[in-house]
Amino acid sequence: MKESELLDQYILNHIDAENDYLKALYRDTHVKLLRPRMASGHLQGRLLKMFVEMIKPMQILEIGTYSGYSALCMAEGLQEGGMLHTFEINDEQEDFTRPWLENSPYADKIKFYIGDAMQLVPQLDIQFDLAFVDGDKRTYVECYEMVLKQLRPGGFIIADNTLWDGHVITTPAANDYQTQGIMAFNDLLASDDRVEKVILPLRDGLTLIRKK
Ligand SMILES: C[S@@+](CC[C@H](N)C(=O)[O-])C[C@H]1O[C@@H](n2cnc3c(N)ncnc32)[C@H](O)[C@@H]1O
Repeated sequence: MKESELLDQYILNHIDAENDYLKALYRDTHVKLLRPRMASGHLQGRLLKMFVEMIKPMQILEIGTYSGYSALCMAEGLQEGGMLHTFEINDEQEDFTRPWLENSPYADKIKFYIGDAMQLVPQLDIQFDLAFVDGDKRTYVECYEMVLKQLRPGGFIIADNTLWDGHVITTPAANDYQTQGIMAFNDLLASDDRVEKVILPLRDGLTLIRKK
């Protein structure tokens, strides 16, 4: 094993374990779905739960449900009466994800929507306290602007994959719209006075944003 893999394993051995339900979901994600690496996994999942416990949101927005791993971790941290609204654009994902969400101990804290969050979220009359942005990297800027409008002052956005495997410090190919999208988002944020921001170099990069 490489040194970085040993360190990753060391971290996992010294943080809270995933519960058995999450372990089973992670396994099922890898057995049945394409691109299972998109799922948050053990470390990021525990971190998302901890953020929810720190921020104590009543209303959470998630853009990009995929298999439901991050949704379940955030719902686990939600206080009584809190609600997570999670959106997935790919309708082929529903048959896999809905049972995992609805059979979980947190089913009554999760509303799962199939459709384009960019269209559906503005139709909801909800001010969010926390948003986890993990959808299409090509449209991160548009997504951020939409989410910021729906966020209360003092609310937080957590944006995933903002270092994009290190590609953000390369010159992207003309047709690499995902790297270009992430770089445009990072550049916009760097000079955006509406928010405070910090990048955590965890996994693929997590940007924490606080609306002033
Ligand atoms: C990286 S995966 C999400 C992983 C999940 N949040 C986790 O951490 O376990 C991104 C998902 O976002 C979905 N997606 C992309 N654009 C979207 C949009 N505009 N609205 C809703 N879902 C979207 C994709 O179909 C994909 O399933």
